[in-house]
Amino acid sequence: MNAMGIKKTVSVLGLGRMGSALVCALVKKGYDVTVWNRSADKATPAGAKRVDELEEAFAAEVVVTCLTSYEVQQPLLSKNIRTLVNLTSGTPAEARATARWAADNGVEYVDGVIMAVPPQIGTPGARILFSGNENHYVLDAFGEPVHVGQDAGLAAMYDLGLLGIMWATFAGYLQAVALLGTEGITPRQFTPMVAQWLNELGGMLPELGEETQHRNYETEVSALDINVAGLRMLTETNREQGVDAALPQALHDLYRRAQEQGHGTHSIASVIEVIR
Ligand SMILES: NC(=O)c1ccc[n+]([C@@H]2O[C@H](COP(=O)([O-])OP(=O)(O)OC[C@H]3O[C@@H](n4cnc5c(N)ncnc54)[C@H](OP(=O)(O)O)[C@@H]3O)[C@@H](O)[C@H]2O)c1
Repeated sequence: MNAMGIKKTVSVLGLGRMGSALVCALVKKGYDVTVWNRSADKATPAGAKRVDELEEAFAAEVVVTCLTSYEVQQPLLSKNIRTLVNLTSGTPAEARATARWAADNGVEYVDGVIMAVPPQIGTPGARILFSGNENHYVLDAFGEPVHVGQDAGLAAMYDLGLLGIMWATFAGYLQAVALLGTEGITPRQFTPMVAQWLNELGGMLPELGEETQHRNYETEVSALDINVAGLRMLTETNREQGVDAALPQALHDLYRRAQEQGHGTHSIASVIEVIR
């Protein structure tokens, strides 16, 4: 709402699972919301106005995009957009290319990534990381906007870093559930222990991060040698129990390469020397 009491106009392109949640949050915050979707079959969220022509959507002060990919999105964009808030996930290179396109066409640009699932949108727990322009325009309607830097590619970089941790953690959990399942241990019995374990591991990350910064891997706690031996046991046990061992084998190979490079007495953080 501006000083004259006129509602700010926002358009959303994409009425998928996430796009629809964004529209509902904008309507709830009192914006005048227009929506556009490729297919007619998606329902229009209550309180929003549906348009068939993209040009009608571009009349809004801010255009939010939430589509499958940049590949899908790029042909839809127009220099008639005034401010583009891009919430379509992509790579840093794609975000930077879109930022260049926006600059060349006189379009204000913010690149954001959503660190939440649709039911969380509009709640304080929904973090929206954004980069480029520091003005977050309408992002506060969706949750908690966090500016991560001027370079438009940075939000996508944070997104992929955090998602990489999520995918690795989930795969590790599923591997353990499969392994313990061979002994009749149920996820319900095992998961509370996992939650506590993840909490403890989280507490170790600041020290691990510091070690990688200073490249000082001296340790009195746990040497890489011990961990490589443990990974061999884990890989063997998965095989013995008839469970796919590709994941523990890949970890064993990675850690062993660091050991072979002379890091056997160093801390686990030294594995980054192989990764880098
Ligand atoms: N869902 C989540 O939990 C979540 C979380 C964080 C980030 N995100 C990000 O949000 C974005 C959207 O995800 P979503 O879950 O909403 O996906 P979705 O439910 O599959 O919706 C995809 C949207 O893209 C549109 N689209 C696909 N191909 C198109 C094309 N060629 N031309 C025009 N429109 C096209 C679809 O339109 P039609 O209806 O015509 O198919 C639909 O509106 C993705 O970048 C995703 O990574 C999602």
